[in-house]
Amino acid sequence: MSGSKNAALPEMAAALLTSHPVTLRNVPRVTDTAVMAEILNGLGGRVQGQGVVTLEMDGARDHHVKDELGRRMRATILMLGALLGRFGHARVPRPGGDDIGARRIEQHLRGLRQMGARITETDAEIVAEADRLRGNRIVFDLPTVTGTENIVLAAVLAEGRTEVFNAAREPHVQDLCVLLEKMGARIEGIGTERLVVDGVRELGGAEHTVIADYLEAGTYAIAAAAVGGELHIDCSRPEDLPVVLLKLEQAGAHVETGDGWFRVGRKPSTTLRPIDMSTWTFPGFPTDLQAQYMALMTQADGEAVISEYVHENRFQHVHELAKMGAGISVQGRIHAVVHGPCRLHGTDVTIPDIRSGAALVIAAMCAEGESLLRSAWHVDRGYEDMAGKLASVGARIESVSVEAPSAGSNHTYE
Ligand code: EPU
Repeated sequence: MSGSKNAALPEMAAALLTSHPVTLRNVPRVTDTAVMAEILNGLGGRVQGQGVVTLEMDGARDHHVKDELGRRMRATILMLGALLGRFGHARVPRPGGDDIGARRIEQHLRGLRQMGARITETDAEIVAEADRLRGNRIVFDLPTVTGTENIVLAAVLAEGRTEVFNAAREPHVQDLCVLLEKMGARIEGIGTERLVVDGVRELGGAEHTVIADYLEAGTYAIAAAAVGGELHIDCSRPEDLPVVLLKLEQAGAHVETGDGWFRVGRKPSTTLRPIDMSTWTFPGFPTDLQAQYMALMTQADGEAVISEYVHENRFQHVHELAKMGAGISVQGRIHAVVHGPCRLHGTDVTIPDIRSGAALVIAAMCAEGESLLRSAWHVDRGYEDMAGKLASVGARIESVSVEAPSAGSNHTYE
């Protein structure tokens, strides 16, 4: 498995917090990490390498993330906590709503304000200032991944103790904390919903291996169950995917787990059972695997209800799956019913976002005939060489062209 995109992004931002080099291994070669490197270089830092990436941010002087780069990736919001921690100033583009929901950030801003930041917002950007941030007691009304990461990034150099209640516990949030500890930060409660950060005066450099991408592993596990066949997935902790592996087993796949690996298989002759699923924050079923699971359920023998409780608008793959012959009815913004089994046929579809792209690839592998998936660049934002990896285990898939939208395109991506 490749390294986790959602761990690598905040970890790259964390390099801003020290004038010493930070070396990250296992950084996935995906568009989003390349955009993050461009942002850090644009601030005056030096980011070198692919896979093994060395970040030297001692020369960084600028605290303004340019709008054009910011719009290419929502994760630039992570720069807010890191820039405030480093410079006491931050100017970042507003991430804005996008295809998968409102993507609100008021909890990030409330937490930073509680720590003493003065923040002004316009439709286009967020400007924050602080002399030195002060620790505080921050309560999230629902766990936010980048919100938790932003507060932790801001808190490690703040004065005094910051407590985050109802913190996100995703493996990538934990991995960011582990890196920060290696840099000299004092963090307790990693992996729990209460994080306690005692600010230190300065942080040093570190070397760190980014955790394996459990979302990539989960995507391929779901693909194996959908298509029929067997995949052995190495360097991925089964404990990062407890509910996904449970659902696959309930649906009729064979699941075997070990230390740092798992295997998922299904004989094509075994009927898949329809199993309802609701997304939830970690350790629940990840929203980032909901679309792929929906593609799997099109192959199940009966109706499965899929409920999306994390993002507000994450059913855009339904329309494209329907073009392939999937019978799915969406009920409001939260529930979708998949009326399996669906006989899928290859056709021409357009990928609306990263995870929908993965779902459409799974559906295309289950479909009779050839499928053309347009806007495949979305997939490259989060998956390293998906076509190559799937082809290496027998899928007939090839990457024809992955042209990205023009730089001036007025769109914010998740
Ligand atoms: N929310 C609020 N207020 C806030 C923050 C969040 O209402 O201040 C809401 C959001 O609108 C959303 C929900 O809470 O409905 C969860 O949002 P969260 O903040 O946790 O999401 P995120 O930090 O913006 C990260 C991942 C997403 C992943 C979500 C949920 C990164 C860079 N992005 O986004 O990943 O879906 O957590 O796990 O880590 C992807 O990789 O495809 C992707 C979209």
